[in-house]
Parts: sequence; structure tokens; C-alpha cells
Amino acid sequence: MTVRRVAVVGAGSSGLACIKICIDEGLEPVCFESSDDIGGLWRFKESPEPERSSIYRGLVVNTSKEMMCFSDFPTPADFPNYMHNSQLLQYFRLYAEHFNLLKHIHFQVISVSPSDFSETGQWEVVTINKNGDWVRHVFDAVLVCSGHYTHPVLPLSDFPGQLTNFSGRCFHSWEYKDADAYRGKRVVVVGIGNSGGDIAVEISRSTFLSSRKGAWVVGRMSTNGLPLDMTAITRFSYLLTLLLPKALINWAAERALNYKYDHRLYGLRPAHRLLDRSPLINDDLPGRVLLGGLVMKANLRGFVDSGVVFEDGTVEENIDAVVFCTGYRGTFPFLPPALSQGPYGELTLYKRLFPPSLQHPTLAIVGLFQTKGPIMPIAEMQARWAVKVFTGLSHLPCKETMLDITESERKRNMKRYKASRAALQVDYIPYLDFMAKEVGVRPNFLLLLLRDPVLWVKVVFGPCTPYQYRLTGPGQWAGARHAILTQWKRVAQPFKTRAVPEPETRASVLFNPWLLALGGSLIMTMLLSRNKISLLR
Ligand SMILES: Cc1cc2nc3c(=O)[nH]c(=O)nc-3n(C[C@H](O)[C@H](O)[C@H](O)COP(=O)(O)OP(=O)(O)OC[C@H]3O[C@@H](n4cnc5c(N)ncnc54)[C@H](O)[C@@H]3O)c2cc1C
Ligand SMILES: *[C@@H]1O[C@H](CO)[C@@H](O)[C@H](O)[C@H]1NC(C)=O
Ligand SMILES: *[C@@H]1O[C@H](CO)[C@@H](O)[C@H](O)[C@H]1NC(C)=O
Repeated sequence: MTVRRVAVVGAGSSGLACIKICIDEGLEPVCFESSDDIGGLWRFKESPEPERSSIYRGLVVNTSKEMMCFSDFPTPADFPNYMHNSQLLQYFRLYAEHFNLLKHIHFQVISVSPSDFSETGQWEVVTINKNGDWVRHVFDAVLVCSGHYTHPVLPLSDFPGQLTNFSGRCFHSWEYKDADAYRGKRVVVVGIGNSGGDIAVEISRSTFLSSRKGAWVVGRMSTNGLPLDMTAITRFSYLLTLLLPKALINWAAERALNYKYDHRLYGLRPAHRLLDRSPLINDDLPGRVLLGGLVMKANLRGFVDSGVVFEDGTVEENIDAVVFCTGYRGTFPFLPPALSQGPYGELTLYKRLFPPSLQHPTLAIVGLFQTKGPIMPIAEMQARWAVKVFTGLSHLPCKETMLDITESERKRNMKRYKASRAALQVDYIPYLDFMAKEVGVRPNFLLLLLRDPVLWVKVVFGPCTPYQYRLTGPGQWAGARHAILTQWKRVAQPFKTRAVPEPETRASVLFNPWLLALGGSLIMTMLLSRNKISLLR
């Protein structure tokens, strides 16, 4: 059975990447999108729509442009390093335009239900469009890219019976758009995830941020003001995490964080260690705590008439609104129920991609994972691997092996992350490298060192940007090397808005031996952190 026609469900960032990869591999993608536009989560809507993800007006990404772009399409150099949601959507539009993807998308297809003919591995896909027209299609494979931030989790039942008398408004962050309605209001924000942090900061006039666990808070801005992920996600630092004891890394990194602001003093300190969970990415939150507009509180216990009670017994009266930033659940009601066979009714997926129970590996779920890095490069690599498996160029182990591996990875994750959606966690570089090896695009470091030592240094010590997976092998991109060599230039570009005058120097000062020695040691320090030096050129 040769695979030719592939159905792609959803035209968010994952769906767009899937369409592009299918075309690259000579397949015929047909994408079904239930809304009337591309972009998925990143297309801001004034009011939330049921069963769809919904973001707030001010949302700015927490991953930087060079790290989160697709591997053969760098973000425009003049875009800011951390894009506003509208700019990220603009990037996806440029991508779709550049690779001519729109003509493969059918919009306003409100229902897609694939069911497999297990004999052949093909899929019958019934679609219904907004006019109610039913169409039956046959596809050789299906890529599901429908997103998983669609169903808000609102744990009101944790506060039984008491809500009825509460006079304020209670709602999920899914409904939150901006702070306009909360000017001069007293608001409690429940949950210290990325949304909780953002929303608390946006409202912060008299806002209470209630958190059971606390969080380690890191800024987008790393040393020298460079993007955090560009300095943190490098192959070299990954190697260090393998070599050094975890306790030592935790100790050193927590110390560095507390050096900026003491997490205990600020009421943020969690019981868990830094590496045990994803940290909260927020630049403004500690500043708001310092100014007193934002007040850290214990976990919410319940409601009283017009106020709320926290677990430490303290009460805040006259609360106008409570925003629950308590996360999301993804559901895949349109898939055959046999696929949702995990212990908690979730989808069991081999390597977070393939349902092991299918007789033929002709369906993959793209984008259903979490990681301490950007989503897009991983989703793109998932698509590249899935297509190789569909076309028989890469093979999966037998069903039992896949189930065993999936279960042991789930257990390891539960132990390591202890969070509710721990099973979804993947490690950024190892997971990308694993898939890249399957696809045949993992860089060969020894060969690279011998052939191109300059590039080798950038690849090993510099940020693990997606271009690394376009250097060799199938899908190789001629621009990949150049993209890596110029990545720090594109980081610097949006800052170049003012010509910075050179400091005035006098010749006599330059030849002062003490200053020469100082300069020499400065240069040594900079050489040791190589990735930053290219900015100075
Ligand atoms: C508040 C918030 C902030 C985030 N910030 C970042 C960040 O900074 N960096 C990062 O990398 N990630 C971030 N993420 C993760 C985010 O999920 C991904 O960036 C990305 O949007 C995933 O894209 P996707 O295409 O998989 O899903 P989505 O963007 O959700 O797209 C899914 C698409 O499928 C369509 N669809 C759904 N069901 C069907 C159906 N049955 N039939 C047809 N079409 C369907 C939807 O209409 C939608 O267009 C954030 C998530 C949230 C909630
Ligand atoms: C709600 O208010 C009513 C009337 O004031 C009161 O009788 C009842 O005990 C209150 N319920 C709770 C749970 O506080
Ligand atoms: C960015 O924010 C989203 C939404 O809260 C979160 O799921 C993701 O893990 C964050 N990314 C990083 C690198 O922390």
C-alpha cells in the first residue's frame, strides 16, 4: 500500500507544518480546518468560541523567534525576539504564503471523523461543512493537528456549595481578554501557570495571586539581555545536565534566580526544585510584587458572600472577580474510541506521536506534548517523522514494544515531574534528536567537526536552533548553514533602532598596562561564553 493522500486535521501552526512536509515528500495533503482562517491558538478573537482555544489580547510568546521558527523559514530579522501574538500569526501567514499552503486547506469544515479500514490502513473520513453537506473521502493516512488547549478546566467542585452566595464573578482564563473591565476592581487570580502570571500582572492594581505550590520565576531576558531560550537550550548545556549531579544544577540555578529576587521573600518559593517542573516565564511579576499591586496568597479554600478565604485562614473581602488559570484539557472526540485506551482514558501514544494499537501506522497526533522549549520545531519534526513512517521509510517497533516503552516513559515522567499533565512532557533536545535520527537528519558531530569546525562550534555551544536539522539528509536546506551563522545577527536586528555612540577614548588611556590586562581578561571571559560574542561584531 503506497501512501499518497494525507488528511490533515487543523490548520494551526502544526497543521501548516504538516501540509508543507507532505508536499516536500511528494504527498497530497488535504487539510480540514473548522474555523475560517489559519493560525489556531495564535489567531486572537474578541470573544472565546466554544471548543476552541482562546488567548488574551496582550499575550506575548515565551519562546524566542530564532528558537521557535520552522527549520527552513527563519523569522524576519526585524521582528522582535519575543513576538506579540499578532506578530507570530503574521509569521505563520508568511510561511503559508511562501510555501503556497493555503490552496490545500478547506475551511469551515465543522466535523471530521476518520475511521480506519484496518485491513489496508486507509481511512474513511467523513466531513461536514457549514452548509451541512456531507462528503466521504478516502485517505491513505491522517495527521491530527487539532490542538489541546480547547477545554478549560474549572475546578469549582473543589469549593462545594459555597459559590452560590459569592457576589463576584468567577471565570476561567479562557474567557479573559484584557484588564479593561477590572480597572479599580479587586481580583483574585487562582493558579501560577504562565497565564496566571500574565493575567495577574496585567490587572495588578489590587490583585491577589493565589497559588498552592508556588513557582520558580524566570525572565525572558537572560544574561546580557539575550533571549532566555537562546542561552539555555544549547547542546553543551544539555551535555552538562547529563554529566553534573542534578542537585548541583538545581542549587546553582536556584541561587542565581534568588540573587535577582529572593523567591522566599517574594512569597513565590515552591517546595519543588527548579528542574522538577517547568518554571514560570514572566519578567514583570516580581516587580509588581515589589510595588504591592500584586499580592501573593496561599491556595484558595472557598468563598464567603463577597470575599474569598485562603487555606492559611486569611480572608479578602469585597472581591469583584476570581479568574481561574487552572489549565486545559485536550479532547479528541472525533477519533475512533479504541485509540483512547490509556489508564486515564487519554490517548496512548508511542513517542507522543503514534497510537500503538493501529494495525498500520497511518495516523499520527502532532503537537500533543509539552516541553521546556518552543512547540513548533518539535511539531515540525513530528510531521517529518510521521510522513517517513507513513511512506515506509522508517519503521516502528512491534505493538508490544511500543506499549512497553510508552508505559515506562510515562512512569518516568510521573516520577520526574509530578504534575497533572506530566505524561505529556518531552525533553527538548533529546526528543528532537531521537526523531531526527529516525528521519536521517541528525547532525553527525564528528563529521561536522572535521569538515566545518566553525559551524561545529555554533551547533554545539550555541543555541539549538531548528536549522540544525536541515544541514544534512532528506529535506536538507541550502540556507541552513547561513541561517545558523547569522542567527545572532537576527537577534540583534530589532534592537538597532538607535545609533549608539562609541565611548570617547584617549590614546593614553588605551595604552595603560592595567587597562590592557583588564581588557584581556574581559575578552577571555567573552570567549568562554562564545555564543554571545557574535553580537558584538
Ligand atoms: C496561553 C498560551 C500560551 C502559549 N505560548 C506558547 C509559546 O510562547 N511558545 C510555544 O511554542 N507554544 C506556546 N503555547 C502552546 C501552543 O499550543 C502552540 O504554540 C501552538 O499553538 C500549537 O499549535 P497547534 O497547531 O498544534 O494547535 P492550535 O494552534 O490549537 O490549532 C489547532 C487548529 O485545529 C482546528 N481544529 C480543532 N479541531 C478540529 C476539528 N475537529 N476539525 C477541524 N479543525 C479542527 C482549530 O480550529 C485550530 O485552527 C501556548 C499555549 C497557550 C494556551
Ligand atoms: C448563603 O446565604 C444564605 C442566606 O444569607 C445562608 O442562609 C447560607 O447559610 C449561606 N450559605 C453558605 C454556604 O454560606
Ligand atoms: C509557554 O506558555 C505556555 C502556556 O502557558 C506553556 O504551556 C509553555 O510550557 C510555556 N513555554 C515554556 C518554554 O515555558
